[in-house]
Amino acid sequence: MKALLDLGPLVREGALFASRGAAGTCRLDVQEGLWPVEADPGQLGQVVQNLVLNALEARPDGTVAISLENVRREPPAMPSGPCLRLRVTDQGPGIPADRLDRIFDPFYSTKLRGSGLGLAVTQSIVARHGGQVEVRSEPGQGTTFDVYLPALPDRAVVHPEPPAPAPAMRLRVLVMDDEEVIRRVTQRALAPAGCDVEVAGSGEEAISRWRAAREAGRPFDLAVLDLTVPGGMGGQETLAALRALDPAIRAIVSSGYSSSAVLADYRAHGFVAAITKPWTAEQLRRVVAAVGARPG
Ligand SMILES: Nc1ncnc2c1ncn2[C@@H]1O[C@H](COP(=O)(O)OP(=O)(O)OP(=O)(O)O)[C@@H](O)[C@H]1O
Ligand SMILES: [Mg+2]
Repeated sequence: MKALLDLGPLVREGALFASRGAAGTCRLDVQEGLWPVEADPGQLGQVVQNLVLNALEARPDGTVAISLENVRREPPAMPSGPCLRLRVTDQGPGIPADRLDRIFDPFYSTKLRGSGLGLAVTQSIVARHGGQVEVRSEPGQGTTFDVYLPALPDRAVVHPEPPAPAPAMRLRVLVMDDEEVIRRVTQRALAPAGCDVEVAGSGEEAISRWRAAREAGRPFDLAVLDLTVPGGMGGQETLAALRALDPAIRAIVSSGYSSSAVLADYRAHGFVAAITKPWTAEQLRRVVAAVGARPG
């Protein structure tokens, strides 16, 4: 069923879902003030997942860059006028020129266990939305898929889930995540519930914010810590450092790796709760409300 959508959250969730348990990482770059598109959220979620899966399969330990932005296209481009462009770029081996026109064929696959349907389905969904899929690749240079969808700049997005009138929590929450998108979404999810949210992009930043807040006499009640930070201080290490400052600290671990031992036994690892990405705003609010109140 089609609805007027903000594709930002949908792309974020699709990418997180596709990269669950994968060794590679996704870098998301979603423009502010995206135009709405009229689309079926389930089908477009599938498009995002198919492209991100292919990208992660092309270079399993690589970084997949995913961006979403408003663009205006001039005729004869199809579609033309205001569009949303979803771009998925990988660092894989690329696709030889003589194979580029076959990759959208149903059942065309070069993978051992591939159905060869991912791109065929992607293309037919995008066509049903009046859009277009374009691919650019050179052997050794990685591959870029662009999906263009007609946008409706003058229409307001209808949010399927209006922010619930939850009772104000009045909690000071510090969120540490290396992904900007997650920090933004966390803030957006918790602020309407009455939380006073600060964000940190690294463990080091989280520690200095925690310390500064204590010194200013406005200590945090709760931390939400990303478990794995590529090349940086992860949630566990950060928690240990924060506990040295504040032995009574209460922290929630957040991770996209649902199979992680820390998520499975978060208490043994010193956390008061665990939440698996991608979570919805409502799930996050519920967890924070459940554990957030300061004991006593
Ligand atoms: N990012 C990419 N880099 C390199 N080759 C790609 C990429 N995306 C698609 N291909 C090529 O296109 C083929 C078809 O892709 P498609 O997603 O339709 O099927 P598949 O990935 O093989 O199978 P399935 O999607 O069912 O797992 C792939 O087998 C691969 O050869
Ligand atoms: Mg595929």
